[in-house]
Amino acid sequence: MPGCRRSRGVETAMGGEQQSENTGPAPVLPRAALADPRGLVLHLAAVKWALGAIRAFVRLGVADHLVAGPATAADLARAVGVDASRLGRVLAAVATAGVLDEDAGGRFALTPASDGLRTGGAGGFRDILLLLTDPLLWRPHEDVAHTVRTGQTAFEHLYGEPFYDHLRADDAASALFDRAMAQIDGPETFALFDGVEFRRIADVGGGRGSFLAELLRRNPGREGAVCDHPLAIAGAAEEFRRCGVADRAVAIEADFFRAVPPGFDTYLVKRSLQNWDDPAAVRALRTVRAAVGDDAGARLLIVNHVLAGPGVPDPGKLSDVEMMAVLGGRERTWADWTRLAADAGFAPRGEPAPGRLTLLTFRPT
Ligand SMILES: C[S@@+](CC[C@H](N)C(=O)[O-])C[C@H]1O[C@@H](n2cnc3c(N)ncnc32)[C@H](O)[C@@H]1O
Repeated sequence: MPGCRRSRGVETAMGGEQQSENTGPAPVLPRAALADPRGLVLHLAAVKWALGAIRAFVRLGVADHLVAGPATAADLARAVGVDASRLGRVLAAVATAGVLDEDAGGRFALTPASDGLRTGGAGGFRDILLLLTDPLLWRPHEDVAHTVRTGQTAFEHLYGEPFYDHLRADDAASALFDRAMAQIDGPETFALFDGVEFRRIADVGGGRGSFLAELLRRNPGREGAVCDHPLAIAGAAEEFRRCGVADRAVAIEADFFRAVPPGFDTYLVKRSLQNWDDPAAVRALRTVRAAVGDDAGARLLIVNHVLAGPGVPDPGKLSDVEMMAVLGGRERTWADWTRLAADAGFAPRGEPAPGRLTLLTFRPT
């Protein structure tokens, strides 16, 4: 069962960062635009237009009708049951944004990007796009200034409750969130685990268990548990079956602020702690430390972005704003990570390079 995991490596602010190769300025800033101050600002403002069109393209399911080959706006409008002229204008915008191809005859064709936006396409990232452009995650960005002024998240200001309380009270939003998170990791995340030995791993805050499922598939004979909110793990059995690891994986309902199950040699907390402020992140880590108990050989693995220092462009500095305005969380430097871990009773092994998604290893002290 090669590659039971369907995604191929788009990352997201909710998950902590936006691209796998952090080699220069933040990914939303084209290098050429940096030389033209007015052009740069207008380009950034126009990203809104592109995203609005791409979201419509995805919601209308247009990509699904391009699998058979190129088609005109009229063909596609017939297929999805909308007005051809209005759809054509949206498609032209999507093509201008580089997500579709359009030829001189007005025929549209899938690119690798739009192919990834098909329903159920292998390696797809449709749900990530839908989640990131959903009003739940879009509207707080309209009022980041509120958060800066008051310290209250723009999310709570808008929706009257913290993000996860709101999300988990809504089955449809919950399902979209968990599907999107299941699309978040590409080969570069799994590469972080090359050479990482474990017997029994607990993926704490592991969502639907899709990462755990693929990790176990790549590590025959190993066992694991995904520990998360009941709605998040509702799809775990399906993920485990799809990856052929149902006999080695379990899903356990857990609140990482209260208790996580003991008895694992490796505890993984991936792309979750950035959702929380320092006191809450330490509380979650202390819960893991309690589960570790006196097993000095156990390990805590944190997979998160490690922020680059001042003056270094870093996509984490963009997702940090989402963490602040939506969740009251934050992206962190290596010094931050070691301080939080020390407060919870863990000491680091090694020091990673900043500016990218990284696997951080800690031992209990
Ligand atoms: C940003 S998602 C990351 C999911 C997954 N680890 C990944 O890397 O794709 C954060 C996860 O933390 C979970 N979470 C939030 N609060 C939690 C809590 N109190 N106890 C357990 N899990 C929690 C969410 O349900 C969600 O699955």
